[in-house]
Amino acid sequence: MVAMPNLDFEGQNTRYATHGLHAYAAKCPPQLVGYGLRYYSKPGETVLDPMAGSGTTLVEARLKGRHAIGYDLDPLARLIAKVKAQVLDDKEVERACETLMARSMRDLIALQTHQVTQALQRRAQLPEFVNRDYWFLPEVASALALLAWHIEHLETLQPVREFFWVAFSSLILAKTSVANARDIIHSRHHFQQHPQTPDVLEKFAKRIKQMRKQANEFQTLCAQAPPAKVEARLGDARKLCLRAESIDLVFTSPPYVTALDYTRAHFLAVAWMQAALGVGLDEYRACASRYIGSESGRLANMTQENDSLEELDQANAVLAQLEQKSLRQAALTRRYFNDMHSVFGKVVQVLRPRRHAIIVVCPSHIRKIVVPTHEILAEIGRSHGLRLKLQHTRTISERLRVMPYLQEAFGQRMDTEYVLVFQKIT
Ligand SMILES: C[S@@+](CC[C@H](N)C(=O)[O-])C[C@H]1O[C@@H](n2cnc3c(N)ncnc32)[C@H](O)[C@@H]1O
Repeated sequence: MVAMPNLDFEGQNTRYATHGLHAYAAKCPPQLVGYGLRYYSKPGETVLDPMAGSGTTLVEARLKGRHAIGYDLDPLARLIAKVKAQVLDDKEVERACETLMARSMRDLIALQTHQVTQALQRRAQLPEFVNRDYWFLPEVASALALLAWHIEHLETLQPVREFFWVAFSSLILAKTSVANARDIIHSRHHFQQHPQTPDVLEKFAKRIKQMRKQANEFQTLCAQAPPAKVEARLGDARKLCLRAESIDLVFTSPPYVTALDYTRAHFLAVAWMQAALGVGLDEYRACASRYIGSESGRLANMTQENDSLEELDQANAVLAQLEQKSLRQAALTRRYFNDMHSVFGKVVQVLRPRRHAIIVVCPSHIRKIVVPTHEILAEIGRSHGLRLKLQHTRTISERLRVMPYLQEAFGQRMDTEYVLVFQKIT
C-alpha cells in the first residue's frame, strides 16, 4: 500500500523563490501544489489553474518544468501571478529603478518646497475615490501619485514596469501598509493611524531590493528546471476558452463559500492603478458579484431550469437546513455551488481522459450549520463523471495565522482542509 503523504507542511518555508512577492488572501502553500505536480503530471505537460489568484500554481509549475495556464477574474491577481511567474532582466530592473526613484524624488522635493509647475501638478494629480483622504495621509497620497505617474511613463520593458506595479501594490496591501489601514488583505479594513508619516519612496526602494532577490532566486531555480511556458490570463473559470482535452492536470483552490470579497480587499491599491490594470474603480467594484463565493449583488431567482443542483441529494439537504436559518445565506450558498458546478463542467471538458483535477477546499460554518463543501464538491464531481480517487485532509494552521477573521467567523472546524483528487474516467 502507498503511504499517504503528509500534506501539513508545518514549519516549512512557503516564501521561497517568488512565492512571497505579494500578500494574497487564501494562498495555497507551494508545497501542496508541488505534491500535485509531482504525483499527477510530468515535465513538459500542461497544468491549468482556473482560479489562479496570486499564481502559486504557475510559479510551482514553472519551477518543475510544467507548462501552465492560470485564469482569474481579478486584474490585480492576474498581474501579480504574471510577474511572479516570469523571469526578469535584473540589470534592467536596477537601471530603471534608479531612474524611477530619481524622478519621483525630484518631483516630491519640488512639491514639498512649493516649486510647482503645471506639469508637476499634472503628475501629482490624485485619483478620485470615496474616502481617499481618510485612508491616505496627504504626503503619502502625493508620493503614491508621483510614483504611479513615473512607473506608467518610464522608458523600460513591459515586464519591468509590471514588476514595479506589483511592488507599488504591495506597499498598500502589505501588513504594514502605507495606507491608514491594518492588514487589508487578510481581514476587513481597520483604520490605523501611523505614528509617523510613512516614507513611500524609501519603502518602495526597499521593496524593490527584496523583490529583486526573490526574482533572482526564482530565475536560478528556473534555470535548473526543464523550460516551460506559463501564462496568466484574465478570465472566468465558468467560461474557459480552451481546447477540449488539452490539459493534463487541473490544480486549484477555489474561494470559500461566502467568505471573502476580493474586490474589497484590493480596492485601495486598484484605485491608484486603474490605467495600469485597464479598469476603472467603479467598474472593478461593480464586478464583485461575478466572483465565486461573493456575497455581493442581487440574487437572481433560481428556477428549476437554471439550478444545476436539483439531482444532488447532499447539496439539497444542506441548502434545506440553511433555508430554515436564512433565505439569503441559502441563496448565496446555492449560487456558490451552481457556480462550482459550471467550473467542474469546464474542467471535465478541457481535461484529457484519465487525467486528474485536484481541488483544495475547506468546509464552512454558516449560521451554525456545517456546509461540507468537500462532500458537495465530490457530489458535483460525480455528477460530471469524475471519480473521487483520493481525499486527503490537512491542517491549515498556516492559513489561520494569516486569516484570523476566518477563525473568528467560522470557529474551530475551519482548521481542516480537504485535498480532493478527481480522475476523469473516460
Ligand atoms: C483562494 S483564491 C486562489 C489563491 C491561489 N491558489 C494562490 O495561491 O494565490 C481564489 C481566487 O478565485 C478567484 N475567482 C473568483 N471567482 C472567479 C471566477 N469566476 N473565475 C476565475 N477566478 C475567480 C478570486 O479572484 C481568487 O483570486
